[in-house]
Amino acid sequence: MNILVTGGAGYVGSVCAQVFIEQGHSVTVIDNFSTGNREAVPADATLVEGDVREVAATVLREHNIDAVAHFAARSLVGESVEKPEEYWQHNLVTTLALLDAMRDNGVNNLVFSSTAATYGEPETVPITEDMPTAPTNPYGATKLSIDYAITSYCHAYGMGATSLRYFNVAGAYGSIGENRAVETHLIPLVLQVALGHREKIMIFGDDWPTEDGTCVRDYIHIRDLADAHLLALESNTASQHRIFNLGSGEGYSVAQVIDTCREVTGHPIPAEVAPRRAGDPATLIASSAKAMNQLGWRPSRTDLHTIVSDAWAFTSQLGDRAYSAQR
Ligand code: UFG
Repeated sequence: MNILVTGGAGYVGSVCAQVFIEQGHSVTVIDNFSTGNREAVPADATLVEGDVREVAATVLREHNIDAVAHFAARSLVGESVEKPEEYWQHNLVTTLALLDAMRDNGVNNLVFSSTAATYGEPETVPITEDMPTAPTNPYGATKLSIDYAITSYCHAYGMGATSLRYFNVAGAYGSIGENRAVETHLIPLVLQVALGHREKIMIFGDDWPTEDGTCVRDYIHIRDLADAHLLALESNTASQHRIFNLGSGEGYSVAQVIDTCREVTGHPIPAEVAPRRAGDPATLIASSAKAMNQLGWRPSRTDLHTIVSDAWAFTSQLGDRAYSAQR
């Protein structure tokens, strides 16, 4: 397939682009480098620098695109509360422009990068796809709105699409891992402490209704995540919009993550308890049974130790290229 990867300089987009290429596909990346890293774009991908809204139609036409993997988006929960307009513009409006460009150019195969944030605070875990969606922040709301748009385009224009709702993506693949200018995610922040770029890690609350009082999350390896995207593109069916959760199905607390990082790095990683972070649910665990049954997805790197080891292999070799070292 000739696959267009929007946001192919971002963490998830670039790993997926790399895996698509390794599996024999041709990849064209669109990225405006607003948050992505130029060096993350796979060397064998064709790069078009620009805004999806402006260049998607031309790229679809001129690069004979068969399928689209759409990652380009803003993805910070806290920022979405402070600057919602950026999220509605860059997430919803951009995706509508992409959907129109796909319709106009007869490109009918889409996989969309979505999130557990569409569910909000779940009543029970593990979370299945038929549970109520009630996002607690604009980020999740934009992703959920896009799902509604995709469903209607599938029905009206015969598109075949899959939305993948990721839980906590982590780890690294090859030379690509988490290295953001603005970092808010737990594992990369803890590893920055081990690198010596941060003094300590703050634990956002130890009075949650969980076993050890810290929040529980479901961490999924970036390489396993990439497999699901390809399986989706290979099995999309005209006029159908499928939605799948992607996680490892096991919950780890913040304290357990920090302990695993200590084991992997051999660094004591000082930690301090801080107040709860607004908007955090206590526990998020995915049921990925639907993706396993219907997509044939088989995650193979579900162990937290493996996920953290791969993340550390990437982070520890960054040196001056780590954004945290440049502050
Ligand atoms: N945490 C800390 N200290 C930190 C950073 C995070 O204790 O310095 C905690 C958070 O409070 C949370 C857990 O670590 O309990 C994981 O936090 P992350 O920021 O790594 O990830 P989130 O669970 O907040 O976010 C993930 C995805 C989002 C998605 C969200 C859905 O990264 O894209 O789940 O709730 F929107």
